[in-house]
Amino acid sequence: MTKLLEIKNLKKNYHTLNGEISAIKNISFTVNEGDFIAIVGSSGCGKSTLLNILGNLDNYTDGEIKYFKENLKIGYMLQEDALFPWLTILDNACLGLDITKTKTKENVDYVKGLLKTYGLEDFINKYPSQLSGGMKQRVG
Ligand SMILES: Nc1ncnc2c1ncn2[C@@H]1O[C@H](COP(=O)(O)OP(=O)(O)O)[C@@H](O)[C@H]1O
Ligand SMILES: [Mg+2]
Repeated sequence: MTKLLEIKNLKKNYHTLNGEISAIKNISFTVNEGDFIAIVGSSGCGKSTLLNILGNLDNYTDGEIKYFKENLKIGYMLQEDALFPWLTILDNACLGLDITKTKTKENVDYVKGLLKTYGLEDFINKYPSQLSGGMKQRVG
C-alpha cells in the first residue's frame, strides 16, 4: 500500500472580529493510494475547513501535512460549483488554462475529452444556468 498523505494533529483556528474560532482540533489520518475516504460530521464540525486546507486554499494553525509523492496533485470539488455564469461550460472548464496561459489547442482538446467523459459533450456551448445542479458539479 503506497502512502500518499499523512495528516498529523492538524489544527485550524479562524481569527474573527469576535475572537478565535476553533474549527479543527488535532485531526490525524493517513491517505493511501486507492483509498476512498468519507469525512462525516454535523454541520460546522470542520469538514470544509479540512478540505480547503488539503486543497491548498487555506492555511492551518498547527500540526503537519506530509506528502509522500512528489508533485502530488490534489483536486477539490467545492461545495458550491463556483462557475462563472457569463462563461460557457467549455470556457469555465478552460479557466485554469486561461489563467496559466496554457490554452493550447491540445490542452483545450484534453478538456473537451474530460467533458465528454463526464457526459457533458452536448453542453459545452451552454451556460451554467442551463445545466442541472449535478451537471454543474461535474463541470466544477
Ligand atoms: N472563514 C471563516 N471565518 C470564521 N469562521 C469560519 C470560517 N469558515 C468556517 N468557520 C467556522 O469554522 C467551523 C467549521 O466550519 P466548516 O469547516 O465550514 O464546517 P462544515 O463544512 O463541517 O459544515 C464553524 O464553526 C464555522 O462557523
Ligand atoms: Mg461544509
